[in-house]
Amino acid sequence: MNKNIAIYPGSFDPPTNGHLDLIERGSKIFDELVVAILRNPDKDPLFSVGERVAMLEALTAQYSNVRVDTFDGLTVDYAARVGASSVLRGIRALTDYEYELQMALMNRKLRPELETVFMMPAEKYSYLSSRLVREVAQLGGSVKGLVPDLVEQNLRGKLDPAYKLAEFAPGREERSETRKSRARKKA
Ligand code: PNS
Repeated sequence: MNKNIAIYPGSFDPPTNGHLDLIERGSKIFDELVVAILRNPDKDPLFSVGERVAMLEALTAQYSNVRVDTFDGLTVDYAARVGASSVLRGIRALTDYEYELQMALMNRKLRPELETVFMMPAEKYSYLSSRLVREVAQLGGSVKGLVPDLVEQNLRGKLDPAYKLAEFAPGREERSETRKSRARKKA
C-alpha cells in the first residue's frame, strides 16, 4: 500500500511552539511528515538554514515518522520529488486565511493532485508567529513558553546583548532605587 506522505513547508525562522504543535498533529494523521525548510536566498534570516535544520531535527527526534529537509524552487515540485500527496499548513486566525487560500489554490493550479490540508494549532498559540518571536527577542523581551527551550537558548546566543539588557534591567532599577534611598537618607 502507498504511504500517505505530507510535506510541511515553511521558513521556520525560528521554529515556534505553534509549529511543533502542528508537527505533532500532522505526525498522527500522515504515515510520513517531511518538515521542509525553504532555502530562500532573497530573505535575510535570523537563523541559517543549517541552524534551523539542527533545531528542528532535535525537536522532532521523538517522532519516528517525521523528518526534516530543505528545498528551493516550487513547493509543488518538491512535493513531487519526495512522493508527497499532501501539503500541511497551519491556520491560526482569519487573517491567515486569505494568504493560505491563495497559496493552496495556486499550488492546486500547478499540481492538481496535491492536496493542501489545513490544521489549527492549539488556541494558546493562535497569536504566535516566527516574525513576532524574532521581533520580541530582538528587542529584549521574553519568549518563554512561545518557543521550545532549545530555540530560546539559541535566540539568547544570537541576541546576547538584548537579552543581557532584559536580564539586568530589574537589577539596574533596584540599584538605582538603593542609590535614591541612600541619597534620601543623606538629605
Ligand atoms: O512559513 P512561511 O514563510 O509562511 O512559508 C511560506 C512557504 C515556504 C510555504 C511559501 O513561501 C512557499 O511555498 N514557497 C516556495 C515557492 C513556491 O512554491 N511559491 C508558490 C506558492 S503559491
